[in-house]
Amino acid sequence: MEGRLQVFAGNSNIPLARQIVAHLNMNLGRALVGQFKNGETRVRLEENVRGSDVFVIQSLTQPVDHHLMELLIMIDALRRASAERVTAVIPYYAYAKQEKKTTGREPISAKLVANLLTVAGTSRVLTMDLHAPAIEGFFDIPVDHLQAGPLLADYFRSKHLENVVVVSPDAGGVGRANRFREQIGAGLAIIAKQRPEPDVSEVLEMVGDVGGKTAVIVDDMISTGGTLVEAARALKERGAVEVYACATHGIFAGNALSLIADSVLKETVVTNTIPLQPEAEAARVRTISVAALFAEAIIRIHKDLSLSALFSR
Ligand code: R5P
Repeated sequence: MEGRLQVFAGNSNIPLARQIVAHLNMNLGRALVGQFKNGETRVRLEENVRGSDVFVIQSLTQPVDHHLMELLIMIDALRRASAERVTAVIPYYAYAKQEKKTTGREPISAKLVANLLTVAGTSRVLTMDLHAPAIEGFFDIPVDHLQAGPLLADYFRSKHLENVVVVSPDAGGVGRANRFREQIGAGLAIIAKQRPEPDVSEVLEMVGDVGGKTAVIVDDMISTGGTLVEAARALKERGAVEVYACATHGIFAGNALSLIADSVLKETVVTNTIPLQPEAEAARVRTISVAALFAEAIIRIHKDLSLSALFSR
């Protein structure tokens, strides 16, 4: 790509955006991203982007719809200002759990978000740990899909825990947990859960031996915390000595952090795809930065280099 590299950010995760540009030895592009008095999003680019290879960093954190709209309007502004290529860098892609109908008369919101991004003028997407990898196929533009698993595995390897069993808290996460198990060298256990209603999780059964072991639950996201806290409780009941957890996206919706603070979890590790709330420390939650990985991906995309090497780091 010939054009110069410029990186802008919406308001959803400024600390991560600053870390990413620090790794790139550059400053964030200057732009006004605010609101009119009537609540509508107001964007004005304050530097020239004509002919540039532009990346816009925006995690779809709460308030999700507002941050999505900021991203769409920034992309529209960049296109109208003649940016050559616009990559939406979306460390956390929201609406991903609505990637299929579970019953009649429901939307497929993850597909709608993909359509909105495409119509706004996005040339390509750089994201991390989509809840359902099939969402990549909702786009007809290139999607680069990074994984936080290797970074989280590095952290757990550095703790030198003994007699570890990696736990998938539901059937859908078995592939992820199995890759993590291979990376840290441990056994595998699988929980079967059910959701009697949205945002409520119940452990039904467990496969694998966890008695006397240190359990590490691996998930893609922590939303209400229900899945995690129930899984940790079931593991302790079945004889696990200590229970740790890790996930890429720490959403911590509602009272998730106080549920985790009051749980048997010894430590919960998430990445900074979503900014951490101040109560996280009391809940024994710590973060690992994905900034260097995103910076490397941005450079490789800009230089038209392969990203494959990043997927196994
Ligand atoms: C489910 O399929 C996901 O992988 C997570 O386990 C789930 O989204 C976590 O949600 P919550 O924290 O609300 O139980």
